[in-house]
Amino acid sequence: MNKFMIKPEIIFGEDSLNYLKDIKYNRFLIITDKSMVQLKLVDKITEKLPKDSKIKIFSEVEPNPTVDVVEKGVKELFFFQPQCIIALGGGSSIDACKGILYFGNKFFENLGKSNKNIEFIAIPTTSGTGSEVTSYSVITKGNSKIVLAYDEMLPKIALLNPGFMKTLPKKIIADTGIDVLTHGMEAYVSKNRNPFTNSMALEAIKLVSKNLLEHFENPKDLIPRENIQYASCLAGIAFNNSSLGINHSIAHSLGAKFHISHGRSNGIVMPYIIDVNDQGEEFYVEIADVLGLPGRTPKEKRQALKIYVEILKEKLEIPKSLKELGVDFEEFKKLLPEILKDIKNDICTVYNPNSLNDEEYISLLLKIYFGE
Ligand SMILES: [Fe+2]
Repeated sequence: MNKFMIKPEIIFGEDSLNYLKDIKYNRFLIITDKSMVQLKLVDKITEKLPKDSKIKIFSEVEPNPTVDVVEKGVKELFFFQPQCIIALGGGSSIDACKGILYFGNKFFENLGKSNKNIEFIAIPTTSGTGSEVTSYSVITKGNSKIVLAYDEMLPKIALLNPGFMKTLPKKIIADTGIDVLTHGMEAYVSKNRNPFTNSMALEAIKLVSKNLLEHFENPKDLIPRENIQYASCLAGIAFNNSSLGINHSIAHSLGAKFHISHGRSNGIVMPYIIDVNDQGEEFYVEIADVLGLPGRTPKEKRQALKIYVEILKEKLEIPKSLKELGVDFEEFKKLLPEILKDIKNDICTVYNPNSLNDEEYISLLLKIYFGE
């Protein structure tokens, strides 16, 4: 039995924040990070909420949210008892909020209570993770990442507003943009793909190919900015239903071990995955065809797609390899057994087109390190 689910109601457009004006609640917990407070982006939310609202701002989320932050958030949830929880920020704030709601549920259940009626609104301020439309959350524990996947963590409302992306630093546009492409690509070749996820993944890939570089060069231009936001959301819906693959499993581990942002680690890894996934060749060929890439045979087209990604990475100033990024080889070698264990335990691994053995993983990881 298969399932395709589109749950969050998606509110989008330049005036989308007006949705908050008519909301029927008056106790709001906002989960965000300090930069959103400093840049006064939180004010854009609070000024729209009903006048008599009680608002509590929890701004302790940091990149790669930890179990500690989730615990603190659960305490806020317990003491403040909001009717509505708003996650404002990049994937980290939305993922932290999901963790807070999930563990908050468990906590309340142990007390014989329920907090499942809390309205959950996700407002992304970057275009990348698609976390506003997924039931996934990545939480860091020590130097490992735990991937949670529960439908009860899906936001009720995904509120997209392109205004937040106008002032994003170029590095963030590059990292989050390449993450969108990875989501589209992994969803499209996933063993769990279906016609619904395929159409959304392919449209996301097309939007990235037509708009990402323009958005990177001119973040203030509305059309590319809005199109990348749509791509992020579409790819999120696709992979929430099809799952991802070893591009993400490897990136999760490398990101946690060497403190690399999620998107950047995915970007570093991507060409090597296209190379190794010969079982997904026919689907990579379809992507290459949509992008108008050359090639006489399926293998040549898959190679053309790999080269396309390498060129895109170069233009986005994303390093070719871990070595180019400055990761120490001795450190990398020492951590290889742990990385291998992480990859095998990651929930994304199971839907990758190719199943790799230990020797193949080590060979792949060495290519990712040396860039060969
Ligand atoms: Fe991702």
